Amino acid sequence: MTPLDERALADCVETAALAPSLHNSQPWRFRISGDTVEVYADHGRQLEVLDPAGRELLISVGAALFTLRLAIGVRGWVPEVSVRPDPDTPDLVARIRADRATTPSEQVGALAAAIPARHTNRLPFTTAVVPADVIEQLAGAASAEGATLTVAGAVSRDAIIGLARAAEQRLGTRGGYRAELGRWTRPGPHRRDGVPPTAIGPWDALEHLPMRDFGLVHPQPFRPSERFEPHPTIVVLATGGDGPADWIRAGQALQRVLLTATHLHLATTPISQALEVPAVRAMLTGTGDHRWPQMIIRIGYAAPAAATPRRPVGDILI
Ligand SMILES: Cc1cc2nc3c(=O)[nH]c(=O)nc-3n(C[C@H](O)[C@H](O)[C@H](O)COP(=O)(O)O)c2cc1C
Repeated sequence: MTPLDERALADCVETAALAPSLHNSQPWRFRISGDTVEVYADHGRQLEVLDPAGRELLISVGAALFTLRLAIGVRGWVPEVSVRPDPDTPDLVARIRADRATTPSEQVGALAAAIPARHTNRLPFTTAVVPADVIEQLAGAASAEGATLTVAGAVSRDAIIGLARAAEQRLGTRGGYRAELGRWTRPGPHRRDGVPPTAIGPWDALEHLPMRDFGLVHPQPFRPSERFEPHPTIVVLATGGDGPADWIRAGQALQRVLLTATHLHLATTPISQALEVPAVRAMLTGTGDHRWPQMIIRIGYAAPAAATPRRPVGDILI
């Protein structure tokens, strides 16, 4: 087995950066030293208006952490991870060491192969039903990372969609929201972050689905209007606590769910507006079961979505 030298670990970091992040903010940095990679939160890329607590920032970094674990795993090394190893350095999210050589499992191979194929899909999905055993595999992916995934039944699905639409409207009136959205959606030929026009998708002709309006500040000259699926499949990812360690856990679970879905030929859209307005999030939080919703995900079958850009690896290595 070839040892994982710093060059190979830099390749792993490049793969980790393919993870999803809020508005493609890529709020992560990495330091490689010998056989170890340190993963840092980059608060300079936090969305202060939308995400003042940094919850979604840590979910994003958690997603990159899971991807890094896979990138190391598929190269035949067991990644030994310590999360938040140093209380005096809170931005140090994790330290990963390529511990010992192993033969990657079939599952690691399948999830690693899904990394470059996973893209947030904002196109209409077909009306095909997602089979129960597929949902079970997604729930298994969440629970393997210490989170839960629940499918919304017809009543709670409609409630979630209604709350997410209300939240989208409420967010639009939050001071600084438009300016912040504008910064992360401004098109530019050399831009390597943010949500590009090619990823925004069409209008929902019936305005039923609470798709985030990434074209609000920089509208596209021609944005088609299409019919989205009338009964979307909505799943909710939740954790048993609601602090930084839970958000990192949620991010790892999110990416494991999204990659499992990609492997199973599903399209996915994270939908987070309802969780960005505290009063709305409280309505989605069960009082008795101590589960905190961390992400709402729309799943289904659709035409493939386009990839979004990433910053060069040199920019994210410390
Ligand atoms: C914490 C978090 C919240 C997100 N919220 C939304 C959302 O509300 N609506 C949406 O369309 N995409 C959402 N996304 C998807 C990101 O916009 C997407 O990951 C990013 O633009 C990179 O594109 P990619 O996923 O295709 O690689 C979210 C992603 C993360 C990690």
